[in-house]
Amino acid sequence: FTKRLMPADIAAMKGGDPIVCLTAYTTPMAQMMDSHADLVLVGDSVGMVLHGLPSTLGVTMEMMILHGQAVARGLHRALMVVDMPFGSYEESPAQAFRNAARLMAETGAGAVKLEGGVHMAETIGFLVKRGIPVMAHIGLTPQSVNTLGGYKVQGRGADAERLHADARAVAEAGAFSVVLEKVPAKLADAITAELPIPTVGIGASAGCDGQVLVVDDMLGLFTAFKPKFVKRFAQLGEAAEVGIAAYAAEVRARSFPAAEHVFDDEVKK
Ligand code: KIV
Ligand code: NA
Repeated sequence: FTKRLMPADIAAMKGGDPIVCLTAYTTPMAQMMDSHADLVLVGDSVGMVLHGLPSTLGVTMEMMILHGQAVARGLHRALMVVDMPFGSYEESPAQAFRNAARLMAETGAGAVKLEGGVHMAETIGFLVKRGIPVMAHIGLTPQSVNTLGGYKVQGRGADAERLHADARAVAEAGAFSVVLEKVPAKLADAITAELPIPTVGIGASAGCDGQVLVVDDMLGLFTAFKPKFVKRFAQLGEAAEVGIAAYAAEVRARSFPAAEHVFDDEVKK
């Protein structure tokens, strides 16, 4: 029996051992990372990584629920966090509560994540006071790509104060942790030192309280593009293509299936 990690356990890791986070969208991937990762995020990156969408804006509640249910079946130890998709929480705290409660109830997630700093603080407080742990996400927030003008580094120069304000606001609102995406390393370190809650970096700094990557990126399964902050820890996409090519060649040569893959006509007693 292993204890299931809860948001409070993640929060208690502030300033201690780095928090290992990864995304997952399927049961087998969740099973593979359960004993290695502390927090598994069912990210809305699923839309781009598994469904071929051009951005995360087309991701729906139904997609997050279906993938959340699949991931939940593969986890026993790690905390599961589900992303709130674009359009499911921005309108009002009440809308956010309704959809966050549905995500938690239908997937068994231990928390939700949503994008936004100062302007989402009221919503974060509304959810936390009503029993829904929230992970915040500031810096580059991909659901706002159209207003941000691209997937740019956030918080450079005079913009740093905006990021500090966002970080402070989500912590004061009660978020148990905050993702810092694509911000200068020095700024990520300063925010990490200032905040009472753990920072989880992606394109941020090794000094953050934890790190997160999209699993298909770090395993080399998603290769349409590679952000600078992605390190490929394996080349599964290349291995898959080699295997697929070998299969195609053997089918065309009629060397697959071989004798050991086919059945005789003997009636078994
Ligand atoms: O959707 C996602 O995968 C994320 C992580 C990259 C933080 O939000
Ligand atoms: Na996301």
